[in-house]
Amino acid sequence: MEIKAAYFELDKLSTRGVVFPIFESEALNDRRLSIIKTLFKVSLERMIEEREIKGKWKEITLIHVDSNPVTHLFLIGLGKKNDFKLDRLRSFAALAIRAARNLRLSSLTIVPPEPYTIADDSKIAQTLTEGAILGLYKFSKYKSKLPDDDTLFNENPIKELFLFAPDILKNNSNTISSMKEGIKRGTVIAEAVNLVRDLVNEPSNKMTPAYFVEQASSSLSELPIEIAVVSEKEAQDMGMGAFISVAKGSDEPAKIIVLRYNGTSSNSFTLGLVGKGVTFDSGGISLKPSEQMHTMTSDMAGAAAVVGAFRAITTLKLPVNLLGVIPLTENLPSGKATKPGDIVKAYNGKTIEILNTDAEGRLILADALAYAVEQGAQKIVDLATLTGACVIALGHAVSGLFGTSKEFMDMIVKAGEETHEKVWPMPLLDEYTQAIKGTLADLKNTGGKPGGSCTAAAFLKEFVGDVPWAHIDIAGTALLEGDKSLYPSYFPENGASGIGVRLLVELVLQLAQKSQV
Ligand code: BES
Ligand code: MN
Ligand code: ZN
Repeated sequence: MEIKAAYFELDKLSTRGVVFPIFESEALNDRRLSIIKTLFKVSLERMIEEREIKGKWKEITLIHVDSNPVTHLFLIGLGKKNDFKLDRLRSFAALAIRAARNLRLSSLTIVPPEPYTIADDSKIAQTLTEGAILGLYKFSKYKSKLPDDDTLFNENPIKELFLFAPDILKNNSNTISSMKEGIKRGTVIAEAVNLVRDLVNEPSNKMTPAYFVEQASSSLSELPIEIAVVSEKEAQDMGMGAFISVAKGSDEPAKIIVLRYNGTSSNSFTLGLVGKGVTFDSGGISLKPSEQMHTMTSDMAGAAAVVGAFRAITTLKLPVNLLGVIPLTENLPSGKATKPGDIVKAYNGKTIEILNTDAEGRLILADALAYAVEQGAQKIVDLATLTGACVIALGHAVSGLFGTSKEFMDMIVKAGEETHEKVWPMPLLDEYTQAIKGTLADLKNTGGKPGGSCTAAAFLKEFVGDVPWAHIDIAGTALLEGDKSLYPSYFPENGASGIGVRLLVELVLQLAQKSQV
């Protein structure tokens, strides 16, 4: 699909479909209605006056018109103007492109809402582009194709998408070029998010640590990224006893991917990105109940987000130095598996009593974080589907944020607001550290049910030394669950949300801006 920028000139339309936004209560003020009336001979004014079209958020009205080349006019409700935020624009584009795809239109024009003041031209084009590409996402590779069910087909019938800039900007010669910039950026980011979705949706009989390495390597090849892979044997020899304690129970060899990107010549700052990569979490000997166990194919969503972020950040050539550490393993019960009560030694020398083998994420992250510190990361953020307790505390709308640096956490909260990948600051008190003090060893790997996501974060903190660090618990946000109508429209109907990439890209932009890089 080619995405192009053009000025608002309805009489120069070259697409089958046209999408026109309608604000609730204020639609009649849109001076463009009269142009539509002349051009297509449909009186939207009448339909709005008779309340056939209300402009309610997500309301879609299709009008068939016979005006070569335009055949379909979609009116999409945007709700009240006061409720309108940038993320709605993203969802609007997704609703639009899906409506056109369902009718198998080959081309579409999206007319933006006016006034155009919600963001600059480039950001508006970026947001619409993201919404369109994210909205088209489907994971149907395992569905047999039925000739009478178009919805199963992966290929997108839309070859051309025009994004219109308002004609009031026509005199601004930079508009189209800055929109083109936005389209480029939006495409890179949305494709990276879709890559994450693909990785997370893959079932675990396919998505083993080795397959993850293969997929990550091919997605990052041709980018200026140095990729190294630590084998299970090497990790063992290096003293990564916490990581190995999880890997032991599985026949699939565990691996750790180490990624490096130098995007700025100033060697003064390296951001560490660490992602939990449990390709299947059965709980191990502390076996999970079977009911929801299948969802644990997504327990590598943090790892996938790091790969996606590397792809987007390096493609956009953002000025930052990155170190990525991605520990990958299955968590399975077997005769070789770690047993509750076992004691292991982590990479930083701390000893851990493993009281519950289902608290495995923090074990593999312990070694990955300590390694990132040793390798010179000067700020670290990790993403992990870490605790069920986080889902209970925050639900599916927001990820939990923990950390040791208020300033760094504030930046992440801001990046979350900016991208709508929301994060919520959670406490990291000494009491939680008390709760994970070991009896026979230095630490124990669970502090029990109370404050489960907080004690998990307190455990991770033991492995980051003095490096400013933030931990994002994405257990509730990585996978779509519960009431789907609460999710943005650019999310798929089910499966992985692809969370993390947009947040991390924004964080890096902020860090770059603060010229801390
Ligand atoms: N991967 C799970 C956490 C999880 C639960 C993610 C639900 C997404 C949805 C993690 O490894 C886990 O099992 N955590 C345990 C920790 C407990 C044993 C201390 C949990 O949350 O129950
Ligand atoms: Mn677990
Ligand atoms: Zn897990």
